[in-house]
Amino acid sequence: MQDKTIAELLKSEKTHVEVIVRGWVRSFRSNRFIALNDGSTIKTLQCVVDFENFEEEILKKVTVGAAIEVKGTLVESQGQGQTVEIQVSKLTVLGEANPEDVKLTILSPKRHSLETLREQAHLRIRTNTFGAVMRTRSKLAFAVHEYFQKNGFNYMHAPIITGSDAEGAGEMFRVTNLDAKNPPLDENGNVNYKEDFFEKETNLTVSGQLEAETYAMALGKVYTFGPTFRAENSNTSRHLAEFWMIEPEVAFNDLDANMDLAEDFIKYVVNYALENCADDLEFLENRLLEEEKNKPQDERSEMKLREKLLFILENNFKRVSYTEAIEILKRSKPNQKKKFKYIIDEWGADLQSEHERFLVEKHFKCPVILFDYPANIKSFYMRLNDDGKTVRAMDVLFPGIGEIVGGSQREERYDVLLQKMKTMNIDEKELYWYLDLRKFGTAVHSGFGLGFERLVQFTTGMGNIRDVIPYPRTPGNAEF
Ligand code: 4AD
Ligand code: MG
Repeated sequence: MQDKTIAELLKSEKTHVEVIVRGWVRSFRSNRFIALNDGSTIKTLQCVVDFENFEEEILKKVTVGAAIEVKGTLVESQGQGQTVEIQVSKLTVLGEANPEDVKLTILSPKRHSLETLREQAHLRIRTNTFGAVMRTRSKLAFAVHEYFQKNGFNYMHAPIITGSDAEGAGEMFRVTNLDAKNPPLDENGNVNYKEDFFEKETNLTVSGQLEAETYAMALGKVYTFGPTFRAENSNTSRHLAEFWMIEPEVAFNDLDANMDLAEDFIKYVVNYALENCADDLEFLENRLLEEEKNKPQDERSEMKLREKLLFILENNFKRVSYTEAIEILKRSKPNQKKKFKYIIDEWGADLQSEHERFLVEKHFKCPVILFDYPANIKSFYMRLNDDGKTVRAMDVLFPGIGEIVGGSQREERYDVLLQKMKTMNIDEKELYWYLDLRKFGTAVHSGFGLGFERLVQFTTGMGNIRDVIPYPRTPGNAEF
């Protein structure tokens, strides 16, 4: 007797063996054919019951969504679309699913909108779409670790609760155990955080970068891969309040090496998905084709999902300076015809996602790495160029996504960094430890952050970031 997953059974060459399978019913046709799914693959295993030999009471409970166990013989399939099936000798209903319950409609083959499914995030994972997305997400996470571990990086667990604001953006979630109704106050009437758990103000991290830098300056090559939190009120298809970020940091790497690393890393993980998620990506490709049928012709993508992924692997990312990009944008049709919401008229403007997507999707038609941004639109820690007005920043821009990576070469010169912190009002006392790195064996170093959900979005072709994370947290939504 074997106890194998459906993924394993469907691949097995040995038939006429006894097997046990457990899973959830996807459909039950003609009181004879059960399509069973156990989550190990998008495919279902056909289980054939001779209804004459089973009690009607049991068969009645074989409804969509029910958990069952079948025992039987694995045989070559007579039907189309599958290689093997099970001739069932014993059937046990482990957990019933009442077909009258409205929630179960999301499990029925009828199509439901992704928005409706979001309201039942605990059940949506039973659908083909979410099964395929989340299996692919899991494989991508593994590929991230495999890439860095193969290349000599150490996995560093950056703290989740932090006393510093890495991005200097101030959009953080406070962590406190003070009484919200009646907090202790200081002599000025402000909340007295000295009486808080950590005896200071603390927040959920927006990035593990600053801590990762301290580790890179000892271990050489490190990466973080953990949850990060931003309290920005962006209700877009690309923003979450809780998302996972991967942040490699490498001592002695300059910005060019940093760009090479980002490109090589992304290609590796996308290739890993192509090689290891074939069935799921095939399904997601067809799902996307169906979805795009509702769009006007000129908004549909020219490439199918897997073609897009291959395109990434086969082409060099185009490296363009911010200054060049501004020139291109100024001269572009949507800018001249005032089609952009934000018109680009001078050097120094912050790029919006409409501009990023124009560069990637219309102008270059390939992934783009923009670098050397104006100092005053980027974070304090980025290395100042000799021109005194740009910093060694880089953003990787992807079709359909916009910014997928943000990174930089870090300012390694103590005096320059200190001056920058002063002009940008960053508390040097809070960050004494970060400044210390520049006093004890400082060196050129670089890193970047990749938003994991944006990578999953790109790989699976899902249009909304809320559909690539199990339980999305967005403004006004922390259900489940
Ligand atoms: O560009 P960001 O803000 O860069 C940093 O946090 C740096 N400390 C990274 C580093 O150099 N180590 O964020 C990095 C990436 C973005 O490019 C984007 O992919 C993703 O994180 N990201 C988000 N993803 C989902 N929801 C949000 N609200 C995101 N904000 C950023
Ligand atoms: Mg950024």
